Amino acid sequence: MNILVIGSGGREHAFAWKLAQSELCKNIFIAPGNAGTAQIGTNVDLSISDFEAIEKFCASNGVEIILVGPEAPLVDGIWDHFKDTEIYVFGPSKEASRLEGSKAYAKEFMLENNIPTASYKEFTIDSKEEGIDYIRKHDLPIVLKADGLAAGKGVLILNDREEAVAEFTMMLEGKFGEASERIVIEQFLDGIEFSVFAVTDGEGYKILPIAKDYKRIGEGDTGLNTGGMGAVSPVPFVDEELYEKVIKHIIEPTIKGIKTRGLDYHGFVFVGCIRVDGDPYVIEYNCRMGDPETEVVLPRLKSDFLNIMLQVKAGKITELEIEKDDRFATTMMLVSGGYPESYSKGKLMTGFDKVETSLLFHSGTKQAGDTVVTNGGRVLAITSYGTTKEEALANCKTNAERIEFEGKYYRTDIGFDL
Ligand code: AMP
Ligand code: GLY
Repeated sequence: MNILVIGSGGREHAFAWKLAQSELCKNIFIAPGNAGTAQIGTNVDLSISDFEAIEKFCASNGVEIILVGPEAPLVDGIWDHFKDTEIYVFGPSKEASRLEGSKAYAKEFMLENNIPTASYKEFTIDSKEEGIDYIRKHDLPIVLKADGLAAGKGVLILNDREEAVAEFTMMLEGKFGEASERIVIEQFLDGIEFSVFAVTDGEGYKILPIAKDYKRIGEGDTGLNTGGMGAVSPVPFVDEELYEKVIKHIIEPTIKGIKTRGLDYHGFVFVGCIRVDGDPYVIEYNCRMGDPETEVVLPRLKSDFLNIMLQVKAGKITELEIEKDDRFATTMMLVSGGYPESYSKGKLMTGFDKVETSLLFHSGTKQAGDTVVTNGGRVLAITSYGTTKEEALANCKTNAERIEFEGKYYRTDIGFDL
C-alpha cells in the first residue's frame, strides 16, 4: 500500500518512521518532507494546500491513503475534497475540524456535551463594549483567545486589565485578521497540562500513550511560547484515577458528541487537558497529532500504525488491541538560535554519525548536496527510551551535545515538573 504523509516536521518524520515498519506499507511519499523523511521515503514538492495537485499526484502514484500532519489542510477541507474519490484521508472533515479551527465552536461543543472546561463568553465587534465591561469585572489573569487559527499566537494570558482591554480591542480590529473577528474570553485554569490522544472512526475510539509537552523557550517554562521544545511519555501524575476521569468526563462524551452532531471524524482527537485540584479540564481540542508529542507517542506504540489507520477506515477501531511499550520515551528539540523570534537558516549540521541509542526525527532540516542544513526554527527532535524518565532524558542530552550547528539551543530541563 502506498501512503502520502502531508507535512514537513518531526511529527511527519515520526509518522514515516513508524509506517515504514509496517509490512502492509509499500511506498511512503512525504509532501513536502525534510532531510529526515527523505531517508525513509520519497519527498514530493507539493503545496499542502493545493488539493488538486495532491489528488493528481496520488492518482498517478497509486496512493491509497493520505495521512495529514498539520491542522491547516484539515481545517481547509482536505477530507471533503477526497471524500468521493478512491483515496482515503485519515483525518476529520472540514466541519469536524472546527473543533480545532474555531475556539467558539469547541466551547459550544463542550458545553453541549457537559465536558469540563473553563467558563467563557464570546464577543465580536458588535459586542465590544460588553466585552470590555466583562474584562473589567473579571478575575485576573484574563485569557483572550482568537476564535480562528492564528499560527499558535492567538491565545493571550494577561495580568493587567487595561492591557487586556487594549489587546481585546486590537484583536477585534484585526490583529489576527479574520481569526480574531470573534474572541473567546475565558476563566484562567491554574494547574498542570497534559495531552491525551485518541484515534476514532467516529463511533468508537482507542487511546494512544499520554504525553506532556514543554512549550516555552526557556528553562523552567519561562519566556516565549514555541511550537514545543520537548515531551515526555508516559506522564507519571496521570495515574489510574485521573485517567479514568479523563475517559469518563472527557473522551467518552467527546466521541458521543461527535456522533450526536453527525460529524465525519476518522483520525486523531488530541485533547489538551489540564489537571486542576485533581480533576481534568479541556484547554483545547486539536484535530491532529501534536508536535513534539508524536515523537514520544509513536515510539511507545508497539502496534502496527498502518493497521490502526486501516481499522479506522473499516470502522472497526474498537476491535483492535493497542500495544504500548512500558518504557519512558522523552524528546528534546534542538532549535535555531533566536527562535521563536527571528533566526537564520542554512547552517551546516554535523555529528549525525556520532548519535547512539537515540532516534532522530528531523523537523526544520534540508538536504544540501551531501550535507544537511537547518531550515527552520525547530530543527531536530532527539528521542530516547529509558526505564525511568531520567535515564531517557540523560540519553537525549548526551546525543543533543553530539549534533552540532551554529546557534544550536535546547532546553535541558524537559520533564522538570514530573
Ligand atoms: P491553546 O492555543 O488553546 O492551546 O492555548 C495555548 C496555551 O495557553 C495552552 O497550552 C495553555 O498553556 C494556555 N491556556 C489556554 N487556555 C487557558 C486557560 N483557560 N487557563 C490557563 N491556561 C490556558
Ligand atoms: N505540541 C502542541 C501542539 O502540537 O499543538
